[in-house]
Amino acid sequence: MTALEVWWRALAPPEEVESARALYELTPRWSSGNLPFVDGPYDPTRESHWADAARVADYASALPASVSDRGSRILDFGPGDGWPALPLAAALPLAQVTGVDPAPLRVAVCVANARRLGLDNARFVVGDGAALPFPDASFDLVTASQSLEEARDPSKVLAEIARVLRPGGVLRASYQVWALPARRFETVTLVEGVDCLLYTYAVRCQDPPHERRYVLVLPSDGEAAEIHREALIASADAPRAYGETLLTRRSPLGAPLLERLVPFARRSFVIDLHRWTTAWLVEALRHAGFSDVRATVHTGDLARAFARGAIARGEVDALAPHFDAITRALGEAASRQPGESMVTAIR
Ligand SMILES: C[S@@+](CC[C@H](N)C(=O)[O-])C[C@H]1O[C@@H](n2cnc3c(N)ncnc32)[C@H](O)[C@@H]1O
Repeated sequence: MTALEVWWRALAPPEEVESARALYELTPRWSSGNLPFVDGPYDPTRESHWADAARVADYASALPASVSDRGSRILDFGPGDGWPALPLAAALPLAQVTGVDPAPLRVAVCVANARRLGLDNARFVVGDGAALPFPDASFDLVTASQSLEEARDPSKVLAEIARVLRPGGVLRASYQVWALPARRFETVTLVEGVDCLLYTYAVRCQDPPHERRYVLVLPSDGEAAEIHREALIASADAPRAYGETLLTRRSPLGAPLLERLVPFARRSFVIDLHRWTTAWLVEALRHAGFSDVRATVHTGDLARAFARGAIARGEVDALAPHFDAITRALGEAASRQPGESMVTAIR
């Protein structure tokens, strides 16, 4: 354990919980309100929109060839604010898309987004991936974007996905490949939660691949809010990693800040996450009962590289009318190209 972990455990003994309860249930908008398609139409001048459209096309093309999209049943595991469930429901209007997430707040956000987008073939239910609330063999395709690895017991989750897929059904998932640029990384974040403020501290370790994330839940007013705001301003100049503030030695955002915030803490949580290498995931999927398992490149990376080149060469306006056809071709190509970050597994 790091010095700060030891200190945190002494000052604010944390309750061990799943990430859904300590993070996703407390975050008003997981995606900061700027998801292409969900929060606004695709914009071909933006690299990330090419990437997301290609990823949706990839998921859609993973539907087994033996079923037409009419009446096909798709499960999206851990949809956050509705991704990829919602754009997938729009791309396959005759399919029935179900999103499952253990955080009731995430489900409420997805339901509201589906209603706003007028998608009546997308439904969302509260449920834990380790005990999916569906009968055996009830889906043709399971999709997952950065969500399988959130579960405390990934082997149970993979076994559950194998159970709810029909024979010949497909799992197509993106996952975070655990390859840190250093043996260990420590970061903090200061964010706004639902009727609260959050101070989080994460320790990422390369070997064994692992992440522990500590969360202090604070009131959103009074002295705690003042300290939180001051720290947020101070963090603006600090170096960043993984979109979070890197904790350097003797940083005032580590132990000194924790000590100031602890007297106001409503809750203290720790989330313990097993992180994945591709070799581990492929083996775990075989063990869960999948017959054909293939790791592939990430569709988003392929599409981003394409879009970056087109933008740099000033070709985007000419390509914009072909956005759907090109992103579809990129999505289909990526799912056949060996690599890391996404996986296809056939039941
Ligand atoms: C990193 S977010 C990804 C959200 C979305 N798929 C995306 O790509 O924007 C992880 C999601 O997984 C959900 N999640 C966490 N633990 C889970 C579990 N045990 N079973 C199913 N989903 C879970 C979280 O609530 C959250 O919505």
